[in-house]
This record gives sequence, C-alpha cells and structure tokens, in this order.
Amino acid sequence: MRIDVLSVMPQYLKSPLENGIVRIAKEKGLLEVVVHNLHDYGLGKYRQVDDAPFGGGAGMVLKPEPIFACVEKLKRERDYDEVIFLTPDGEKFAQPLANELSLKKNLMLLCGHYKGVDERVRETLVTKEVSIGDYVLSGGELPALVLIDAVARLIPGAINDSESALLDSFQTGLLDCAHYTRPAEFRGMKVPDILLSGHHAKIREWQLQNAIERTQKRRPDLLKAWEAANHAKERQTSNAKTAT
Ligand code: ADE
Repeated sequence: MRIDVLSVMPQYLKSPLENGIVRIAKEKGLLEVVVHNLHDYGLGKYRQVDDAPFGGGAGMVLKPEPIFACVEKLKRERDYDEVIFLTPDGEKFAQPLANELSLKKNLMLLCGHYKGVDERVRETLVTKEVSIGDYVLSGGELPALVLIDAVARLIPGAINDSESALLDSFQTGLLDCAHYTRPAEFRGMKVPDILLSGHHAKIREWQLQNAIERTQKRRPDLLKAWEAANHAKERQTSNAKTAT
C-alpha cells in the first residue's frame, strides 16, 4: 500500500512515520508513506499556501492552487482509491473504515489547517472526509497519523501475531477482554485460575464472558449493537436449518 500525505507542516509528521508499526510495515515492504510539503507548490516568492477568507472572519483558508497542483501531479503518476480530507465535519473514523482502507492500494490524505481548505478542493478533489472525533484540532496532521497507524497495523503481515489485530477491541463488536502476564501472583493480586489451566475452550469462554462484562460496563451502546447482530445471526442459522 502507498499513502501520500499532503501537509503544510511536513516536519510534524516525521517521527511517528519513522517509528512503531509504520516503520515496521515500511521495512517489510508492505507500506510506503510519502509526505508532500504544500509549500513546494505555494504561490509567488513566499510560497503562499493560505489566504484570508472571502466574507471576512478570523483565520486563514488553504488556497486551492497549491493543493490542485500537488494532487494533479500525483494523480498523473498513479490512480488513487481515495483522496481523504481530514476534517472535524467528516465521517467519524472507526474500525470498519480502518478495515476497508487497509485493503486499498493507493490513498491520498489531505491535512487541513487554520480555518480549513477552499471549498472547491472539497467539491472536486476529495472523495472522502474523515473526522477522528467530535473535537477540533489545530490541523489534520494528527488525524492523518491516527488513520495511518490504525490502517498500517491491519495490513496482512504488518504485525507478527496476525490473529491479534483481528481480535482487537471493536473488531468483534465487543471491547477486548482483560490480559495478564507473569507473574501469576503480584502483590497478592492473582491471575484468574482458568487462564493458567491450559484448557483452551474454557479460556475462550472466560475471555468472551469478560469481554461482554467489560463492554456492558464501559460501552453499553456497543453491547446492544453486538447483541442485536448476534440475534440476527442466530435467526439466520435457525431459518437455514428449518429450510433444509
Ligand atoms: N482537523 C481538525 N480537527 C479534526 C478532527 N477532529 N478530525 C479530523 N480532522 C481534524
């Protein structure tokens, strides 16, 4: 997979793209991330990338010309599955979208700044608008990094334990169960006996029960959706059985 990131603050992206899961995926040849400095496409002697909004008001708006120039240059080189603009008024980012994006070949991420970007960019170049939550950050760089991290770890082969990304919180519709490691007893706090039993079926059962309890306590909204999906699945199975 290749991800091109367009930003007016490319330095900001440097360290997170050179460490952790993104570095590993890059080293394994599974991911390429290329950062483009929009100032390189800026206008005039001062490489201007933003301007005051028509109609007045505070803040600056990213100009269309540098973004069009950069996006059009990249599009001449390859086809993009999505051109994503990171913005607080976009679609809320969640696991299903990360799963979907992890299967793509070429993604372009546009980081907004100041008051945002000229609307003509959104109307004509952008294919998807994504928000990482209901709060306003000073730019799209952190949201772009969040998206890249969530996607990179899902690329098959990126993490060693290929099963574990699929068992994460949210993948099953439930939050993750509790995890323990050695020692089996620490300051009088014991690891549940069942986890030490070696009885795999019983351990899976405990993990599912624990995940359900945690989800009920922390995110009852998720548990309701999980129960509804499970009931629908059960109904489908019993209908299929009656039909045969
Ligand atoms: N830019 C500023 N705030 C943002 C958010 N919450 N999500 C995505 N992009 C943003």
